[in-house]
Amino acid sequence: MKDEVHGRSQPGQAEPKVKNKEVVALEDAEAQEEMETNKKRHLNVVFIGHVDAGKSTTGGQILFLSGQVDDRTIQKYEKEAKDKSRESWYMAYIMDTNEEERVKGKTVEVGRAHFETETTRFTILDAPGHKSYVPNMISGASQADIGVLVISARKGEFETGYERGGQTREHVQLAKTLGVAKLLVVVNKMDDPTVNWSKERYDEIESKMTPFLKSSGYNVKKDVQFLPISGLLGSNMKTRVDKSICSWWNGPCLFEALDCIEVPLRDPKGPFRMPIIDKFKDMGTVVMGKVESGSVCEGDSLLVMPNKAQVKVVAVCCDESKVRCAGPGENLRVRLSGIEEEDILSGFVLSSIVKPIPAVTEFTAQLQILELLENAIFTAGYKAVLHVHSVVEECEIVELLQQIDPKTRKPMKKKVLFVKNGAVVVCRVQVNNSICVEKFSDFPQLGRFTLRTEGKTIAVGKVTDLPVA
Ligand code: GTP
Ligand code: MG
Repeated sequence: MKDEVHGRSQPGQAEPKVKNKEVVALEDAEAQEEMETNKKRHLNVVFIGHVDAGKSTTGGQILFLSGQVDDRTIQKYEKEAKDKSRESWYMAYIMDTNEEERVKGKTVEVGRAHFETETTRFTILDAPGHKSYVPNMISGASQADIGVLVISARKGEFETGYERGGQTREHVQLAKTLGVAKLLVVVNKMDDPTVNWSKERYDEIESKMTPFLKSSGYNVKKDVQFLPISGLLGSNMKTRVDKSICSWWNGPCLFEALDCIEVPLRDPKGPFRMPIIDKFKDMGTVVMGKVESGSVCEGDSLLVMPNKAQVKVVAVCCDESKVRCAGPGENLRVRLSGIEEEDILSGFVLSSIVKPIPAVTEFTAQLQILELLENAIFTAGYKAVLHVHSVVEECEIVELLQQIDPKTRKPMKKKVLFVKNGAVVVCRVQVNNSICVEKFSDFPQLGRFTLRTEGKTIAVGKVTDLPVA
């Protein structure tokens, strides 16, 4: 597992504060138990986009500009990057902490870091862009509230990312299904010699992306905002870009845009739901995840679903501090008693006892077929890998129930035996092991999913019905 970057480095320190999240985080938290609770709102932001678009560079630059990485560290990374013949990657090294990532210049695991603006505490989730690591990207996006979609404006790079098979499209569609409500689309590498802060290039990208974002379900007026940046040079990030560099931009810089972004309020009084993304042993069993509904407090009794194990909450940690209670949207580490680490799998859900999350082996769903593998037809018997919150599970389509007319959004009368790309279809989905899901209409975050085969996302969907318990 990758180190977590914490934004609390002291001046003159050689390294940014990088900690091993399994061990140190909780001890550190205990030391701070009495720390006042931070009253700023909290947002999880995932960085998505095609490989090499500049996600890690931009994420690293944000940490640098918010004062969490000092000059000496940057110099050290510059030297290390040069030694690896990856001169321009030094900013990305702030987020890419694994040797493999640094050597290859590609993010593999989702990097995690924290920073604050005037109004908000942010957790950055730096997703990998390479298509081999889409499952990691899915895990990052499923923890996020908003997304920063990074697009390279460099000649040819926007085009490759946007093509069929490029990750720009796939990431947008996945983000939408996984509950990323709003997107900041940053048109990056504006400093590149092939771009040189050209308004024409920026407008071209915005005009090509807009219809696509609409067709992916984003309300472009309300939920999407475009802005130009240079992640490498840090332009238009913490302060607005200088008119001498870019005369035509009158909009906000990245920090301003992040500060102002609004997300719907979540209900802290709902039944508690926290999908478990990871677990480890540390004076008991510690589980990690994001609260999707309700609140949790030290001393609470909860269920680990689907195996209905009753547990007690010994401690709750949010970012690096220990807290008494935490509400929806927070990324937590929760220490439990009453269960062994071996008895928990990622995809399990920490849940309220009074109103536990349903555990099922079958459900009804409405699917939108994106792009099937060549020669494949989507019919009963189709097998795929289901990704829903932190669950990854083999599944089979057991019956197609109805096809939906995409124009009228009404069911079509004709009986449906198979469908092709682009179709919307209601079907029954089966899994071998019991999983925890909710109806999309009750808990959108726990009821939307993706289906993948052979490393490609072939459909996105939502749970419309569950068997009666
Ligand atoms: P993956 O993690 O592999 O998906 O890539 P990424 O999106 O994190 O890209 P990364 O930050 O690793 O940057 C890829 C390359 O683009 C590096 O060589 C960066 O220096 C370069 N790059 C990133 N941002 C900018 C920018 O604003 N301007 C210029 N000129 N180059 C940039
Ligand atoms: Mg990266």
